[in-house]
Amino acid sequence: MRRSRIISTGSFLPEKVLTNADLEKMVDTSDEWITERTGIKERRIAVHGQAASDLAYEASRVALERAGISAGEVNAIIVGTISGDMPFPSTACFLQDKLGASNAVAFDVNAACSGFLYALYVADSFIKSGLQEKILVVGTEILSQITDWEDRTTCVLFGDGAGAAVVVPSYDDRGVLSVHIHSDGTMWDLISVPGGGSRNPASSDSINQRLHYIKMKGNETFKVAVRTLEDIALKTLAQNGLVPSDLALLVPHQANQRIIQATAERLKLPKEKVVMNLDKYGNTSAASIPIALDEAVRTGRIRERDYILLEAFGGGLTWASALIKW
Ligand code: UT7
Repeated sequence: MRRSRIISTGSFLPEKVLTNADLEKMVDTSDEWITERTGIKERRIAVHGQAASDLAYEASRVALERAGISAGEVNAIIVGTISGDMPFPSTACFLQDKLGASNAVAFDVNAACSGFLYALYVADSFIKSGLQEKILVVGTEILSQITDWEDRTTCVLFGDGAGAAVVVPSYDDRGVLSVHIHSDGTMWDLISVPGGGSRNPASSDSINQRLHYIKMKGNETFKVAVRTLEDIALKTLAQNGLVPSDLALLVPHQANQRIIQATAERLKLPKEKVVMNLDKYGNTSAASIPIALDEAVRTGRIRERDYILLEAFGGGLTWASALIKW
């Protein structure tokens, strides 16, 4: 059977660190509140002029190098992002240009924090169907540019970064066992950037109303996230004939420590089996899973043939999971 397999990962985080203490000077918040409610201590912020494709390029370069694959060999580049370089062309096309991946088809998927797993779903389908051979799957975000730095309810949450994975066919038992993607557009208004599109085009009015920034109904989102993530984790495992104790590692989207802990508790996973790095990077939306996965690989937390569960939840609403035999 032909399935897809991640053969390498890479990630890139901008150097500049913004701590909770820095935020205390910007809005009415405290390190104590942020730490207790989210688990975040600091986040990385891109420098002015850096765009999502610049971070994606650094992460992709490393992933390709580790895979021993040249940019010219890549057949497809699929980028998950909600903070792309421009409304169009796609950030994937900018990335293609930077890499010199002249033989690739390149496009973005917009599924907010589930973006990397949606992109993996497309890559997995391309590979299973025999349409493509070597695919670069990327999550990249510069959320600092769409964050309202005067809104304490959102500005403490987000950060910038990118992660990439090289996906190729596998003919043995290792690889992506299943990817599951879900959407519910009736809850679109829980997280959105209302301005800058055809609904509320960019204008001095839209800017004065701060519509070009992320708006989130955090508490409502929190409740749906906890319920949904537990549900997809169990369904994904069951579909593959597995139970939570079979997992070597859970790599969840890094939105909130309390959401991650709630999922881990319901799956009865000890904390050694759960990747958590949001204390250092905050919520990097589509980039959070590939960054966390890359860290887990580099620090030796994943061994060959381990079962790994990835799961995410975000704007749309969208949610997704992927079970991998590494
Ligand atoms: O990644 C995509 C998906 N996103 C998520 O999954 C995010 C899900 N939501 C969350 O992580 C949490 O809801 C938040 C961290 C965003 C908020 O935590 P919460 O426990 O749900 O707090 P809340 O929104 O219910 O606010 C509680 C209080 C409010 O004050 P009052 O009305 O009780 O007086 C807020 O005004 O905390 C206040 N507050 C703050 N206080 C200090 C909100 N933000 C801050 C802040 N510093 N930064």
